[in-house]
Amino acid sequence: MKKVIKNGQIVTDTEVFKGDILIEDEKIVRVGEDIGCDDAEVIDAEGMYVMPGAVDVHTHMDLDVGFARAVDDFYDGTVAAACGGTTTIVDHMAFGPKDCSLWHQVNEYHRLADGNAVVDYGFHGVFQHVHGDTFDEMKEIKEEEGITSFKVYLTYDYRLEDDEVFRVLRAAKEAGIVITVHCENHGVLTQLRKELPEQGHTEAKYHPLSRPARCEAEAVNRMIHIAAMAGDAPLYIVHLSSAEGLHEVMKARAENRPNLGVETCIQYLILNDSAYDDPEEGLKAIMSPPLRKDQDREELWQALAEGGIIDTVATDHCPFHFKEGKAEKQYGRDDFTKCPNGAPGVQERLMLLFSEGFMKGRISLPQVVRYASAEPCRMFGMYPQKGSLEPGTDADIVMIDPAGKTVIDRAYIRGASDYSCYEGMTLDGRIDRVLLRGSEIARDGKFTGSRGDGRYLRRGESVLISKK
Ligand code: URP
Ligand code: ZN
Repeated sequence: MKKVIKNGQIVTDTEVFKGDILIEDEKIVRVGEDIGCDDAEVIDAEGMYVMPGAVDVHTHMDLDVGFARAVDDFYDGTVAAACGGTTTIVDHMAFGPKDCSLWHQVNEYHRLADGNAVVDYGFHGVFQHVHGDTFDEMKEIKEEEGITSFKVYLTYDYRLEDDEVFRVLRAAKEAGIVITVHCENHGVLTQLRKELPEQGHTEAKYHPLSRPARCEAEAVNRMIHIAAMAGDAPLYIVHLSSAEGLHEVMKARAENRPNLGVETCIQYLILNDSAYDDPEEGLKAIMSPPLRKDQDREELWQALAEGGIIDTVATDHCPFHFKEGKAEKQYGRDDFTKCPNGAPGVQERLMLLFSEGFMKGRISLPQVVRYASAEPCRMFGMYPQKGSLEPGTDADIVMIDPAGKTVIDRAYIRGASDYSCYEGMTLDGRIDRVLLRGSEIARDGKFTGSRGDGRYLRRGESVLISKK
């Protein structure tokens, strides 16, 4: 099968130029001008941007949090991803049973994803304790599964204490593994989540007050120092949401602290805490960390524009139903602390970054590719196979028509959830078509692929490792 994408504006993370892309047997074969190929199907890309498929390195498909389960399984969630221009995800797995081996969730996630995912996928491992065999299991999983990143949480029931995180970071550095960390101060937020409802403050608007920005900043600062004490261990901070947290990152950047990766998520760039004003609608945006103020948003955008501070823009995609099915978000109707944390975003992310970032002049087009595709792949050992348009790599491609519009309404939604946090927005630009390894998987917002088209990705080492 040969295809040639003709006359598009080709966008990489460093440049934009007019040209053609020749695809054969799942791979990009040539990128250049006036590529002729008589036996190839021609895709006309005149007037369109042709970019690497987007890569979301922070999703939670089918996440089981005990009292609720995220409503996007690996099929529905990756259909939403495909329709939104995302051709690869790296999913953060849920905690397993108490004291389980690290292998337990790896096996469970293959059961959930294999044969269901419609985009290519990998997994981050997860630590929920540090026992005798834990570090040997981590090394085995890297060797046998190509899982080269693991997550630790500083809050929730299976959080790790500082001594455990220190040991994990040291062992991970030794093994060439990146540790990703959910940074929030558990002690403070636990106290606030206890006392606010006791004082009768049960509405959604108290959610951000229960998880203040300083909870994030303190934990970010603590992790940066603990990683340094662990021998500059590779550390990747997930879902940075606040200006206070960002200032801690900027201090570390100013000191040239090595082996540090930083992610923000699209919701922290687009939305603010006014989403919690309405007691009912506010449940839709209950997530951790919470949405912040406009000042936080502006500083995050500024950091993206400046470059060299934040590496990636992901989603933390973790949707529940608002009104349909089990209406899990309604568990928080009388007490926000009972609402499952998380919201959808995997479908919306790329076009929000394109429209609100590039089209509104906040960031450049190569920066859209850098934050949505290239850097996520560099951070997690997938570059250049994914996230680039280099000859010899996977032909994962998204074509965007900048003259089109994307209306985010109920009809737009391709995942299983019954809402989007961005409903009511009209975005500048429209995804025309999406190719996964050369085959079309989405066109004009409709899924055109098949269940199971996605392949499991064994990942290599992160760029954070090679910087040591
Ligand atoms: O609210 C969120 N982020 N839900 C998903 C679980 C987590 O905290 O990462
Ligand atoms: Zn998450």
